Amino acid sequence: MTAEFPLAKRLELFPRSTRLESRGGQSFLSIAGTSLIELAKQYGTPLYIYDQSTLDDAVQRYRQALADSYPGPSGLTYAGKAFLCLGMAQWTQQQGLWLDCTGIGELGIAAAAGIPRQNILMHGVNKSQADLQAGLAQAGTLVVDNLVELQRLADLARDVTHPLPEIWLRFRPGLAVKTHAFTQTGQDDSKFGLSPAEVVQAVQLCQREGLPLVGLHFHQGSHFHDPDPIGPALDTALDVIIEAHSSTGWMPRTLCPGGGWGVPYHEDDLPHPSLESYVHFVAQRLAAGCQERGLPLPHLQLEPGRSLAAQAGVAVYRVDSVKTTPHRRWLLLDGGLADNPRPALYGARYTALPVEGLERPAIGLAWLAGPFCESGDILIQELPMPEISPGELVAVPVSGAYQLSMGSNYNGARKPAVLWLHEAKISVLQRRETLEDLFRRDLPLKFAS
Ligand code: LLP
Repeated sequence: MTAEFPLAKRLELFPRSTRLESRGGQSFLSIAGTSLIELAKQYGTPLYIYDQSTLDDAVQRYRQALADSYPGPSGLTYAGKAFLCLGMAQWTQQQGLWLDCTGIGELGIAAAAGIPRQNILMHGVNKSQADLQAGLAQAGTLVVDNLVELQRLADLARDVTHPLPEIWLRFRPGLAVKTHAFTQTGQDDSKFGLSPAEVVQAVQLCQREGLPLVGLHFHQGSHFHDPDPIGPALDTALDVIIEAHSSTGWMPRTLCPGGGWGVPYHEDDLPHPSLESYVHFVAQRLAAGCQERGLPLPHLQLEPGRSLAAQAGVAVYRVDSVKTTPHRRWLLLDGGLADNPRPALYGARYTALPVEGLERPAIGLAWLAGPFCESGDILIQELPMPEISPGELVAVPVSGAYQLSMGSNYNGARKPAVLWLHEAKISVLQRRETLEDLFRRDLPLKFAS
């Protein structure tokens, strides 16, 4: 059986600096001028690669879209949960972004990267005492999720002698975006945020306690492709602001409708609506909503993770074995579930290209599975692929967000090396974990003899 092999469309999903090159009549993929074959030889597989030009371009597009469509002040935060390490944190500063950190752990990475306080924003749905203390010490902005947390914060803040972080309230607009149920967050029954009625109580609590409350935040979910539900959520936010203002006199300086804009992962997701269409929608709805209600234009802060980082990342695997079962051709890879749990968690659909010999026609469908002891460790199903021999490399595009950050050491998997490519310069962002890393935290049991 032959199947269509949409090379050009798959290439579109790769980082901007990806090229199809040819040497000695053999084609191969390169990123930022470096052959993926050479990188795999030097750094081993599974290997993750980030292309800086793709990251820079996404920031630039967001900035331009905001400038083109929002008449008020605006800014961008990178949601670190998509992928964070020292180098990535440094990149956010080179780009003048704020960094959204969840909890004391990500705050620690931001601190190690030397990020100035005013660029650190802290999130978290159930911040511990330690999270809150770290947030008070290190964050420029702290987003409060619920009333219990707010009271705890107020109690801790009384002993703080330096200026407090600015406070935002996260609220639940009662409307989620269309996406996988596990990544919806805006609905009434979501565990995240305050109800509109609780927002008013939270404003009063901040006023009583003298907390510097300046912003309102909501986030309706992640990986959506239709911005429509943001419209009514913005309306709700503005109505909540009016209600809070009438009873407390408070008016937020900043409004943040979170992040969540989706990306294409598979050739069937193309063409994908542009991030510009999303930014324009948000900006215009917010500006119009403020005008209708006679409200001043707030500072509009967007908080993307995936739409900044996903396309910049590529995962390179080696096909160790090829196997045929009654109805399937299996390409067995040296990575999978442990570095990318998204297919198993959300049924996420990825695509792949062979790294060499890309002009070969597809011979049929392939199932690309990892080495882990789970039948659900299938990275890609039913993918038209050429004949692939054991030892060949495959590259999976759109691997930059929520893969390594949700990765595990299942079956003793060592976390892959992560490279950063920029203008033919290769930097190691994270070295591959060693066998010793797997038991570095462990202490031997001492049995009574
Ligand atoms: N802001 C807040 C408060 C968030 O909770 C998130 C994502 C973002 C911004 C960034 O959303 P993004 O632009 O990256 O969609 N593990 C899931 C995604 C979980 C998203 C969690 N929050 C996945 O792999 O699809």
